[in-house]
This record gives sequence, C-alpha cells and structure tokens, in this order.
Amino acid sequence: MRAVVIHELSGPESVEVREVDEPDRSHELSDDVVVIDVVAAGVSFPELLQTRGRYQHAPELPFTPGLEVAGTVKWAPPDFHFSVGDEVMAFTNQGGMAQVAVAPAFTVFSKPSVLSFAEGAACILNLHTAYFAVHTRARISDGETVVVHGAAGGLGTALCSIASLAGARVIAVVSSEAKAEVAVAAGAHHAVLTDDDWRQCVNDLCPEGVDIVCDPVGGSRLTDSLRTLRAQGRYVVLGYTEGAVSEVKTNRLLLNNLDVIGAGWGAYVRNDPAAFRRIGDAVNDLIINAGLRPIVGHRFRLDDAAQALSLLENREAMGKVVLELE
Ligand SMILES: NC(=O)c1ccc[n+]([C@@H]2O[C@H](COP(=O)([O-])OP(=O)(O)OC[C@H]3O[C@@H](n4cnc5c(N)ncnc54)[C@H](OP(=O)(O)O)[C@@H]3O)[C@@H](O)[C@H]2O)c1
Repeated sequence: MRAVVIHELSGPESVEVREVDEPDRSHELSDDVVVIDVVAAGVSFPELLQTRGRYQHAPELPFTPGLEVAGTVKWAPPDFHFSVGDEVMAFTNQGGMAQVAVAPAFTVFSKPSVLSFAEGAACILNLHTAYFAVHTRARISDGETVVVHGAAGGLGTALCSIASLAGARVIAVVSSEAKAEVAVAAGAHHAVLTDDDWRQCVNDLCPEGVDIVCDPVGGSRLTDSLRTLRAQGRYVVLGYTEGAVSEVKTNRLLLNNLDVIGAGWGAYVRNDPAAFRRIGDAVNDLIINAGLRPIVGHRFRLDDAAQALSLLENREAMGKVVLELE
C-alpha cells in the first residue's frame, strides 16, 4: 500500500510517500482494533512537530504518521457494532496517512452522513479537544465571553465553533484579514488582528474583561491574555505553535483571582475509553443536531503530504488540512 513515511527528522520537505507493507494482520486475532480503508487523513501540528522530532510521541524511524482518518471498515472484531463497509472516523494515533490504517476500537465513531470523508478526517483531534477544553476544563456557561488565539487554525476554528454553540460571545485573534474571515465562518462573533495590538482591540470590545481565553499559540500570548481576563477569569493552555513554552508569573493570578487550566485531550482520553466515547458522542450530537461542522481549508493528495505539512509550518493553513486518498 502507499503511505507517508517520516524517515529522517529534518522537517516536512523530507517526508516521502512510499510503497510499504499493509499493517500486520495478526491484529485480527484481537478484539480491540478496527482496520480501515482510508479515504481521508487529517494533517495537524503534532505531525509537523514529528517531522522534526519535536513531539512527545516520537516513534522509531522510519514510521508512518497520521493521528486521524475517515474511511470504511475493512475488518472489525466479530460482534462489534461496526461491520465491513461502514463509514467511520477514527483516532489512529499513528499510521493514519496510508491507504490502510489500524485504530483502537474505542476510538472509532460512525461518520455522520452529513459529513464528507474530508470533514470526517477533520473531526476527532480538533473538535474533541475543543469540546474537552471549553466544556470539561473551562466549564463554559451560556453568555460568557471567550477569546480564541490562532482562531483560523485547525484547533482554533474548532474552539470558535464549540464555544459559539455553547452560547458564548467569541473573539478570534488572528494574523490576517483572510484568517479573520475563516474564524468568523467557524462561529467567532468578532476578529482582531495580532498586528493591531490585539489586547487593546479585545479591551475595546469587552472593557469589563473576558471570561475565558483559549490558547493553542502560547509564547508571548500568555501575559497579555491574563491581562484581558476579568476577575476570576480562566486561561486555558492548549499548545505552543509560537514555539516557546510560556511561563506564568503567579502574582498575576493572585491580583485578580485567575485560573490557569491545562487542557491536554490526549492525556485525558488515552487510558479512559469511557471519556473518549463521552466526548465523541457529545460532538457527534452537535454535528447531527446543532449543525456543527469542522472547517476543511485545504485538501491535498496523499503524494503531496510534504506540501500539506509545509503549509502548517509556514503559518499558511486556514481551517483543517486533509489528505484525500480517493
Ligand atoms: N491540548 C490538546 O489536547 C491539543 C490537541 C490538538 C492540538 N493541540 C495543539 O494545538 C496547536 C494548534 O494545532 P493546529 O493543528 O490547530 O495548528 P494550525 O492549524 O497550524 O493553527 C495554529 C495557529 O497558530 C498560530 N501561530 C502563531 N504563531 C505561529 C507560528 N510561529 N507557526 C505556526 N502557527 C503559528 C497561527 O495563527 P495566526 O497566524 O492567526 O496567529 C495558526 O493558525 C498545536 O500546538 C497543537 O500541538 C493541542
């Protein structure tokens, strides 16, 4: 089968698409995996970091990356609730950027028929993380105000959509007008530009301070984010696309009774299938009954995986980047 292969850690340009063996069929003895004919595979920041050996999950070289896929069931355990040919989306964790992928059974969800396969491949990582961050960790309430950094990115658009559907007023922070349009399409009510003194712009929109800041960017965004919060506001840490891990001066928390909250979805669901299903079912319910849709901004052929990953590195991606195999 054809698969994307990371064979050295020198960045997206060195990624290759090769003929490799299909996954070992001995898993068919197991009750806890599903084999999927992949139609679309998601491309995200963690896979970009893997091309440089900068992600916490660093498999031995060479390996096929790919956290999530949508496709049809090729093999499922006997008596499992999916059968051969069913349309599904799944979190593969690794190996998704290939014609055939294996996923832990508890990570496999029915692909709602309203979603294309590309949208299905854009669901799990970002929408589940956003739901976890906004509901489970930040405990959002109807009518609160939420700032989202990197709001036109894969996770950023998901945060805008989920917070907006929760009844929040959402302010997107983005680096260009084009990205502002994407964030607003995802559900943001306002968009402010990083170059325009974003903190002042947020303050103009919400002089009393915001309730929640969701931050996948990190680095220099931290201090000004804490300054935009109202008393007892919550800052939610999601990632560090800017590069540096931000450090909190705790006096800022004391001054205004602020909470700094970690939202690591993978760490939360990895060993807790019930939590994985609970979040996934809630997201699927929003897709089916509330019109939630992942924003797919870029579609590439499998052979163009290096280009897809470069888009993320060059800060050019808007919405989710997806590889299409059919
Ligand atoms: N906590 C979790 O459970 C979890 C789950 C999934 C992903 N993540 C993390 O969330 C982050 C975002 O992932 P993603 O897939 O949404 O990435 P993405 O689509 O590339 O979006 C990232 C956004 O970060 C902003 N950014 C600021 N400085 C940047 C830089 N130097 N290089 C690239 N982007 C920069 C960009 O927005 P502007 O240009 O508008 O500033 C960009 O749109 C990553 O750190 C990822 O590891 C965390």
